[in-house]
Amino acid sequence: MSETAGSLEHELEGMLEIEKFPPPADFREHAEWADPAIYEEAAADPVAWWTARSKELLDWDVEPTEGLNDSDPPFYRWFEDGRINASAQCLDRHVAAGIGDRVAYHWRGEEGERRDVTYAELLDQTQRFANALKGLGVEKGDVVGIYLPMIPEVAVAMLACARIGAIHNVVFGGFSAESVRERMSFSETKALITVDGARRKGKTAQIKAQVDEEMGDLASLEKIVVIRATGVECPMTEGRDVFFDEVCAAAEPECPAEPMEAEHPLFILYTSGSTASPKGILHTTGGYLTGATTTHRYVFDLKPETDVYWCAADVGWITGHSYIVYGPLANGTTSVMWEGAPDYPHQGIWWELVQDYKATILYAAPTAIRTFIKWGADIPGRFDLSSLRLLGSVGEPINPKAWLWYHKVIGGERCPIVDTWWQTETGAIMITPLPGITETKPGSATTAFPGVSASVVGESEGEPVGEGQGLLVLEKPWPSMLRTLYKEDERFVETYFSRFGVDRYLVGDAARLDSDGYLWVIGRIDDVVNVSGHRLSTAEVESAIVAHENVAEAAVIGQSDPDTGQAICAFVTLNDGVAHTDEVIEAIRGEVAARIGKFARPKRIVWADDLPKTRSGKIMRRLLRDIAEGRALGDVTTLRDPGVMAALEGQIAAEGDDE
Ligand code: WTA
Repeated sequence: MSETAGSLEHELEGMLEIEKFPPPADFREHAEWADPAIYEEAAADPVAWWTARSKELLDWDVEPTEGLNDSDPPFYRWFEDGRINASAQCLDRHVAAGIGDRVAYHWRGEEGERRDVTYAELLDQTQRFANALKGLGVEKGDVVGIYLPMIPEVAVAMLACARIGAIHNVVFGGFSAESVRERMSFSETKALITVDGARRKGKTAQIKAQVDEEMGDLASLEKIVVIRATGVECPMTEGRDVFFDEVCAAAEPECPAEPMEAEHPLFILYTSGSTASPKGILHTTGGYLTGATTTHRYVFDLKPETDVYWCAADVGWITGHSYIVYGPLANGTTSVMWEGAPDYPHQGIWWELVQDYKATILYAAPTAIRTFIKWGADIPGRFDLSSLRLLGSVGEPINPKAWLWYHKVIGGERCPIVDTWWQTETGAIMITPLPGITETKPGSATTAFPGVSASVVGESEGEPVGEGQGLLVLEKPWPSMLRTLYKEDERFVETYFSRFGVDRYLVGDAARLDSDGYLWVIGRIDDVVNVSGHRLSTAEVESAIVAHENVAEAAVIGQSDPDTGQAICAFVTLNDGVAHTDEVIEAIRGEVAARIGKFARPKRIVWADDLPKTRSGKIMRRLLRDIAEGRALGDVTTLRDPGVMAALEGQIAAEGDDE
């Protein structure tokens, strides 16, 4: 360790003693929201508060006369008789207000290419593409798949769908084509928008060719639109496939935005749950837009005229939907959009982008911060980061050390940090500091956003835990909540509203409430693993592993990991006669990459001749977690064969010898 790294480490250690960080005086002075009365005002009548925000930040075509319709819980409806078009809120109204030449996205390509896309340009492209989609037979209510890398066209594709009332279904570019197929097939997707190829760290992957291999026989899929992003050759099927640039050039330039019913579906986004089949989270128009726009404005203390905002997520996750596309655009924000990885072409690329664009707000995941810590503070130290005034964190708990490093090395101790807790299901940030008001504690997402009620309750009875640990629940409906699981109403009720009734949304996370009423989110209580902020179901990974011909059985758990938060650890039983070799390990990892995506590959594989099961045959993952983490085993009395654990312990010890 160098001397400077050593002294930084020492300083951070010292800072661990500091319990609370009040908003810096300079920040507070210029903050839009610095009066804590906002919390009481919202709590007095949350529906009225949200309705007021909705009217303050959005221009409805038809203003709603009612806030919440809760006559059929848990199928809550918001702003029901209002009408609004999400693409018009994100584009047309800004152009009409004379700010069409404001940059919406400063896009930077992996090889240094620069594209500044203004609001007027985004509107023009969106209208043309909306017309093109109509020409391809896409109608209001149809589902359109989007499988794209981080290029500005991803926003065009989403907004063009919203413009004509088509429901977009974005799949993260890191998922394999097979996962895309599954998500397209569940949702009966009619058209898919993808690219010829996608770049990653200097290499180009043949996306369209992979899509063709998987999607060829999908009956519902009538059209594939291909964006020429890299210029690689790609197969095109006559009558089904068209190029984006060609259909846009041929399309009429004007496509008036149709005002949609507030509850018209805006998008589906598949996310992982407790079982292998992903859940299609459904969000609707008016409420979702209200949640995303309000939280983006308030949590980031956004000043649309002057801020340069950068959310470094991928648009394929909910963070990208709410805080790269809908929230920022509805607020008329100028954003940075980076195509690539944090270490290509060099490990300082993020900081070079902050410096070049004079970014004022950075919103990133703890896993990225931990990676930067590993690379060393001298890398960001080479760049001018003085433009930054606010930092955000999202996706997983941030450990206090990483928080302090972010605060000191990136924020220069002048930027408040907003640690924002939320989910695909919540649509928008739910637990967070307000940067001009809240005293922060490193590692705590602090308290619920105004108009949101979060509590920690006991596991069995659901009684409020005054102080201490329990299950996190959200007690009142909020506008951007999921409306259902696409085509699975029963699963929606069962998953979120069966344990404590229809009045309380079960989050699926455990949390602790401290004596100041601050919330500390601990992690998932279900079989969901959070790897680098990517949500994965253990069941989904297991079914990919057992798909391999040599595998008899597998059990997957999340194991704590210093870099990725959690990592996938798989206990695998091979078929009789198959040797435990490195080749088999690589083949299993390859199977998972092909079926789900590279990011889901197990980091660790432990050979198991047998798995710990109850008498009824259920795998006891709790014991596997104990053994993987090197903890003392919990209760083993319900095991069918207690000898299994001794054999596994032997296997783990042997694993240590190999290294
Ligand atoms: C976790 C991502 C602690 C949590 C926006 C949640 C967090 C899941 C935080 C949702 C945070 C997200 N602190 N944990 N600030 N933010 N999580 O749907 O377990 O991809 O339930 O949404 O991530 O993941 P999702």
